[in-house]
Amino acid sequence: MDLSTINAILSKFPEIKGNLIATLHEIQNHFHYLPEEELRYLSQKKGIPITQIYSIATFYNRFSLKPKGRHQISVCLGTACHVKGAEKILDELKRQLQVEVGENTDDMNFSLEEVRCVGACSLAPVVVIDEDTHRQVTPKEVGTLLDRYPF
Ligand code: FES
Repeated sequence: MDLSTINAILSKFPEIKGNLIATLHEIQNHFHYLPEEELRYLSQKKGIPITQIYSIATFYNRFSLKPKGRHQISVCLGTACHVKGAEKILDELKRQLQVEVGENTDDMNFSLEEVRCVGACSLAPVVVIDEDTHRQVTPKEVGTLLDRYPF
């Protein structure tokens, strides 16, 4: 474990009470997931039961206990996106990234997942990468889209 990194994160929140979620966010942003070792260290250092930390970490789906790529790709397979060819976009992403849904690329730059309706049906088909919503994506655009998220 890189003690300097976790200590730097914890030093941002001297008062952990009321800041546990923000602390977990910082850890997740840095590591792209919540590593067990860092969570145990947080528990010991701040005197928070590990069960309390895990209950928060598993409650919010923005937190992940498994390693994730630097960039999270979510392909919408809701009805509107499905009708407009979302499966073909997903297939193209799988082909170019050489991963299946739920997996990370070997270089850990991308994670691929499917979601059901992100509330942007009029923009279908939609691919969300990190905080960016990409509208009316076509399979041909997939390569260009990925190039916008370098390692
Ligand atoms: S179905 Fe894809 S955004 Fe609603």
